[in-house]
Amino acid sequence: MKVFFTTVLVLVILAVAGALFVAFSGVANVAADQKAPRVVDWFLGTTSDHAVARRAATIPVPDLGSAEMVREGFEHYREMCVGCHGAPGVERSEVARGLNPEAPDLAVPDAPDPAEEFWVVKHGIRMTGMPAFGPTHPDDKIWDIVAFLQRLKGMSAADYAAFVQQQAQPAGTTAETNDKS
Ligand code: HEC
Repeated sequence: MKVFFTTVLVLVILAVAGALFVAFSGVANVAADQKAPRVVDWFLGTTSDHAVARRAATIPVPDLGSAEMVREGFEHYREMCVGCHGAPGVERSEVARGLNPEAPDLAVPDAPDPAEEFWVVKHGIRMTGMPAFGPTHPDDKIWDIVAFLQRLKGMSAADYAAFVQQQAQPAGTTAETNDKS
C-alpha cells in the first residue's frame, strides 16, 4: 500500500512539475498561424462541446418560426456574424481567415441545435474568437438571431442573396413603388 501511495505522489508531483515547466519555460507555441498538437485540439474542443451541451440542455426554446424574427435575425447576422462565419456565397473576412480555431460554417445542416446556438451567441466561447453578445443584446434579440440561423441551415447562395436584396428595400415598399417616388 505504501508503495502505491508513494507512486501516486511521485506521479502527481511529476504532472504538476510538467505543467509548471510548460507554463514558465515558453516552449508552448501560442501562434495563431500554427496548428496546435492534435491532442490539445481534441481536449479543448471536447471540453467546449460538452460544456455548451450541458448548459444548453435546460434552456427552453421559444417558437422560432416567425418571418419577422428571421428577418430581424438576418440583419444582426449580416452586421455582426457574416465577417467571421461567412454565409452561402459570401467569403469570410481577412480577420476571420487568421482565426485559430476558425469560425465554423453555420449554414451546414448539422450546425448545433437552437438551444446550443442561443447559449454560444449569448455567452461566447472564451479563448476563441467567438464573442459574447449577451452583454449588448437582450435575449429576444438573440432568439431572433437563432431563428435566422435555423433558416440558414442548408440555405443556397441565391436564397442568401435574396435576403440581402430584401434588406436593401425599406420595409413595406417594393422596387416598383420606389421608382415612382
Ligand atoms: C470575431 C469572429 C467571430 C464573430 C464576429 C462571431 N463569431 Fe461565432 N464563432 C467564432 C469562432 C472562432 C468560433 C469557434 C469557437 C470554437 O472553436 O469553440 C465560433 C463559434 C460559433 C458557434 C458555435 C458553432 C459550433 O459548431 O459549435 C455559433 C453558433 C456561433 N459562433 C454563432 C455566431 C453568431 C450568431 C455570431 C453573430 C451574432 C457570431 N458567431 C459572431 C468567431 C466569431
